[in-house]
Amino acid sequence: MRAYETRVDLLEVRLDWLRDWTVEDLEFLRDRPVLWTFRPVRQGGEFAGTDSERFEVLRQIGRRRLGQWVDVEWDVWPPLIMELRGYFKVLLSYHQYDGHLPPWPDLGELFRAKPHDAVKIALTLHRWADIVRFLDIVEACQAEGWDGVWVVMGPRGTWLRILTPWFGGLWTYASPEGTGRATADGQVSVEELRQVYRYPEMAPDHRIYGLLGDPVAHSVSPYIHNRLFQEVGLAAHYVPFAVDDLEAFLRVMRVLPLGGLSVTVPHKIAILRYLDDVEPAARDIGAVNTVVRREDRWVGANTDWVGFWRPLVRRFGVRSWRALIVGAGGAAHAVAYALRRAGCSFAVTNRTHAKAEALARRFGGTAIPWDAVNPGAFDLLIHTTPLGMAPHIDSLPPIPDAWLVGKVVYDLIYNPPETRLLRRARAVGARAVLSGLPMLAEQAAEQFRLWTLQTVRADDIVALAQAHLERQSETFNIFD
Ligand code: ATR
Repeated sequence: MRAYETRVDLLEVRLDWLRDWTVEDLEFLRDRPVLWTFRPVRQGGEFAGTDSERFEVLRQIGRRRLGQWVDVEWDVWPPLIMELRGYFKVLLSYHQYDGHLPPWPDLGELFRAKPHDAVKIALTLHRWADIVRFLDIVEACQAEGWDGVWVVMGPRGTWLRILTPWFGGLWTYASPEGTGRATADGQVSVEELRQVYRYPEMAPDHRIYGLLGDPVAHSVSPYIHNRLFQEVGLAAHYVPFAVDDLEAFLRVMRVLPLGGLSVTVPHKIAILRYLDDVEPAARDIGAVNTVVRREDRWVGANTDWVGFWRPLVRRFGVRSWRALIVGAGGAAHAVAYALRRAGCSFAVTNRTHAKAEALARRFGGTAIPWDAVNPGAFDLLIHTTPLGMAPHIDSLPPIPDAWLVGKVVYDLIYNPPETRLLRRARAVGARAVLSGLPMLAEQAAEQFRLWTLQTVRADDIVALAQAHLERQSETFNIFD
């Protein structure tokens, strides 16, 4: 706890999580900014005793004049709350873990009925449509003149925990690093909040950027873009938006100073209809991975194809490749577009042949059934399926060795940076192997340039991403 004294404004002490302690043990927190939370089991906490036992402990803490705030659940008897208010400021809290959104009139009534200095609403929400309603409730609380802490638990609420200053929240909750114990799902750590998102520097006139996708929790993009913003000295913050419903999401974004978005699965195509303009490359590819706000217009762009193409040129110069694309999904579309644009020929093979045919038709290539591929007909193999991507790093696409020998093998997967396919290709004598990491870096650099008009070096991004992936594999063991 001592380690965090200088890094947070308020320490929440979960008394219900402590074992074998007495009130005297808390003396070391004298003069520290503390919020006491002593959550009973019925409210999602771990204290199994009675309310009178619980309040006796809080009373003793209060008499010692330790701490500033106490979190009291909304269902507590008002005279007890009044008494605690003699010692502390009272944060009257309402928690709901089952995905249910209470109606505002009920919540308003409940908070009006009990004395408090601020309110806390913490709900587990799974749908952005409910997040929109939750934000209406936040506004209603503010209209009542109540200070508050607004929390959406679960992965859909992480962005709101980070962007608390834009919604007038008194504070946000963050977990101590390395304990593996966040107080709630979707929380980020104190270190991340400070170092990655630069929470202490946030101000409402700063620009907001983010990654729109589902899921987004393991993405490296926040680590890349936040660092780039910091390096070029821009007052901007990049957050993960795990979104199920584009319309609801965009409604929320309208009230934020949004500068742009990275877009990933499953929204790359669906976002098209909400944009004011779409750049020609994105239109040809049929997918948008970048949204740029230009004045009041939302413009869609695609940087995947550049991301794919540049590492090839940097390594081998401009060549007239004869390529084989394995897979025919979204990533394969950007690849085919880049190859056609560079005047290269390509064939495509895919588990579902009809999709290979559609891709070939669209970009002027040939669709070949898997078992009819002639290894002599191509010199560059591009793997675009998710097979081998973390956490399934042991999967290997069913690609015969004959397709790898003597070829340039390019796997678009960046996590892990060296897939099983690339190891295999190396072992059987591929001419060269290329991982998806430089592609990730180049597409991010191009995205950053579209947003900020600033040029950054892809090599620096590779280093950033690599460092993050290594840390992630140590800390969270996502490869398990
Ligand atoms: P992305 O947008 O990232 O490219 P996608 O659109 O889901 O992802 O495309 C995934 C590609 O990988 C598809 O071509 C898919 O084959 P189908 O068209 O038959 O679905 C391919 N793919 C996914 N899992 C696969 C597997 N187990 N074996 C072979 N191909 C697979």
